[in-house]
Amino acid sequence: MSKNEGIQLVDLDESGVDVAFREDVLKGLSQERKALPARWLYDDAGSQLFEDITQVPEYYPTRCETEILQNNGEQFAESIGTGRAVVEFGSGSSVKTPLLLNAIEPGAYVPLDIAGDFLRAAAAELSAKFPGLPVYPVEADFMKRVELPAAVKSMPKLGFFPGSTIGNMVPRTSVDLLRSMRETLGDNAKLLIGMDLIKDTDVLEAAYDDAGGVTAQFNLNLLRRINRELEGTIPVDKFHHEARWNDTFARIEMHAVADEDIGFAVSGQTFSIKAGETIHTENSHKFDARSSNTLLLAGHWTPTARWTDAKDRFSVILAEATIARTAP
Ligand code: AVI
Repeated sequence: MSKNEGIQLVDLDESGVDVAFREDVLKGLSQERKALPARWLYDDAGSQLFEDITQVPEYYPTRCETEILQNNGEQFAESIGTGRAVVEFGSGSSVKTPLLLNAIEPGAYVPLDIAGDFLRAAAAELSAKFPGLPVYPVEADFMKRVELPAAVKSMPKLGFFPGSTIGNMVPRTSVDLLRSMRETLGDNAKLLIGMDLIKDTDVLEAAYDDAGGVTAQFNLNLLRRINRELEGTIPVDKFHHEARWNDTFARIEMHAVADEDIGFAVSGQTFSIKAGETIHTENSHKFDARSSNTLLLAGHWTPTARWTDAKDRFSVILAEATIARTAP
């Protein structure tokens, strides 16, 4: 069974359970080191909690990226040019996308998202702000190549992937995604992408473990979601949130740490976790100029320009579709 107007994006079984969610949870909890894919953090409650995170004082990425987009409009206009179809991967936020669209005089705006409701809301909001701009929302899983609307086929494209969402993927997955974007957008395309920077561990860990506990709620909501949707019996109050910097992989990891030995069930299967063991729920990779360039090149994009905020905490990079040529 599927929802979303005939597009097979979410598989639900006869009792309304998201089949992929159950599969991932049962598999992830059965591993020796328990881990769950971060994409499941974003049910309605999790999406709202993430919006709240962007407002907490310690979480700098949203503010820093907004500052970059606000302060460099003229340079974006110069290096991107006018008349491009802006293809945004993930529903546009109400603040960042208009800053870009205002700067570059695009030919069209194509928001792509797997979640139809967010997509339609974002598209309607943008249309209201830019009455003359053609907006073509596309409901799709952008981890794979996406067929763009016929109306933008002949326009040059600009992919827009803000927020350092690329950092939530392990390198193999982010390279796959960048290559799919390259295929979706075609030759002569450009890509404007936000990538968070490596910095003091204290600053990073505070950003992912704010004093107000919003990120902790965001993390533990995944365990609550399992209880809500998969007949789980996880005693969530016996876990605490932890944000750890992993220097080998240059990433912040979110873990739900068990405070004591715990047994619980999910979808009729039983699991146990020892005191101090964790369920790993998210990676947020951080970059420097070289590592971001290497990742983009591996994804078939050639970086051409880079901007950072005043405190050098976050970067926005412009890249162009790499033309296949023989090595070196
Ligand atoms: C969505 N993503 C880029 C956020 C990040 O910073 O990795 C998700 C997040 N997790 C905890 N706080 C924010």
